[in-house]
Amino acid sequence: MAGNPLRTKLCDMLDIEYPIILAGMGGMGGPVSGPELVAAVSNAGGLGVLGCAFLSPHKVEAMIKKTKSLTDRPFGVDTIIPAEVPQTGTTAEFKAELPSVTTDEPDVIEKLRRELGVPVPSGGKGYLSEMADDTVWSQEAFKEQVEVIIEHRVPVWAVGLGDPAPWTKACHDKGIKVIGVVASVRGARRLVKSGVDIIAASGAEAGGHNSRIGTMVLIPQVVDAVSPVPVIAGGGIGDGRGLVAALALGAVGVWCGTAFLSTSEAIFEDYHKKMILESTEDDTVVSKVITGKQARYLKNRLIAAWDKEGLPTLPMPMQPIAIIPILDGAYEANMADIVPAPAGQITGMIKELKSAKQVVEEMVEGAKRVLAGLSN
Ligand SMILES: Cc1cc2nc3c(=O)[nH]c(=O)nc-3n(C[C@H](O)[C@H](O)[C@H](O)COP(=O)(O)O)c2cc1C
Repeated sequence: MAGNPLRTKLCDMLDIEYPIILAGMGGMGGPVSGPELVAAVSNAGGLGVLGCAFLSPHKVEAMIKKTKSLTDRPFGVDTIIPAEVPQTGTTAEFKAELPSVTTDEPDVIEKLRRELGVPVPSGGKGYLSEMADDTVWSQEAFKEQVEVIIEHRVPVWAVGLGDPAPWTKACHDKGIKVIGVVASVRGARRLVKSGVDIIAASGAEAGGHNSRIGTMVLIPQVVDAVSPVPVIAGGGIGDGRGLVAALALGAVGVWCGTAFLSTSEAIFEDYHKKMILESTEDDTVVSKVITGKQARYLKNRLIAAWDKEGLPTLPMPMQPIAIIPILDGAYEANMADIVPAPAGQITGMIKELKSAKQVVEEMVEGAKRVLAGLSN
């Protein structure tokens, strides 16, 4: 086989050795892909991306500085800019508005909390309460996050949800590459118009916010729609076979989240890492209950109870704020089957706790073996 198929255009664009990107993994409880995991992936030759969704600008800045102290290699920051969130407002202010948004939601939440056996949160360590001041939900706060990324010249900004158009020129002026994460062909076309450099398309298999379309189907259609803009493939890619398959579908690299959840560096509860090691391909479920938007999680009792009741969800940010009492109580009591754990369908392939370096190395070695087999 001529050349090195794993040395793709993405490697040159981002100055990395392997076309493997650690997807930005944030969440309301704080980052999952924090500085240690990001630096480990970048040091191993891939590109680590910090999960900074919902984090206050000063927290984003602290994470960037910490990452820079752990690696000299390029890395990225992932944020989300949901179109529907209000211009301004804090967690406390949105919480105060809840009764005017819905008349019965607080009662429903309280009833569900009792039925699930979740204790009343003590107000101490909580899933969201303890970091309420560090959690942001407004357009204004998201804008400030981006300004921090630009000011610190982080090599890559990944936009998980929303339109980066107002900032792409400022990023390019500072040499920052912009990745737009999409779930559809239409979304990919829109972000190309906004000036992104790379499209990450994440299929239905993905953990966290995902697509209704499977990765195998989504990637080639996105590749065709946005060519020559490079596409990276996410959703269900966890080893060398997945990497080669993504390249065969026309992608120039992979965007992997779940594969890194059960690593020593991931900021993921130990009980959830263990659940992943024990899970099968059928142990995840898609629900809007946690963020108000469709996302994939390990199956849990909160999601099952919500779906069984057929309860409607509120738009972001009201849904996550409404369920804070359940999340806080469950988190305090270490209720592994209530605290949400975003994860994709490859959980069934993950059988042991590894280091992030090992995950990258095994993916590369596995891909080389597959490619050697194909050329025989
Ligand atoms: C724990 C977890 C948290 C995530 N948080 C975010 C996030 O904050 N922003 C985002 O753009 N995507 C988020 N995602 C989605 C990933 O960026 C990515 O699209 C997905 O993990 C790729 O599919 P895979 O899980 O099958 O590897 C998250 C995924 C997981 C598993």
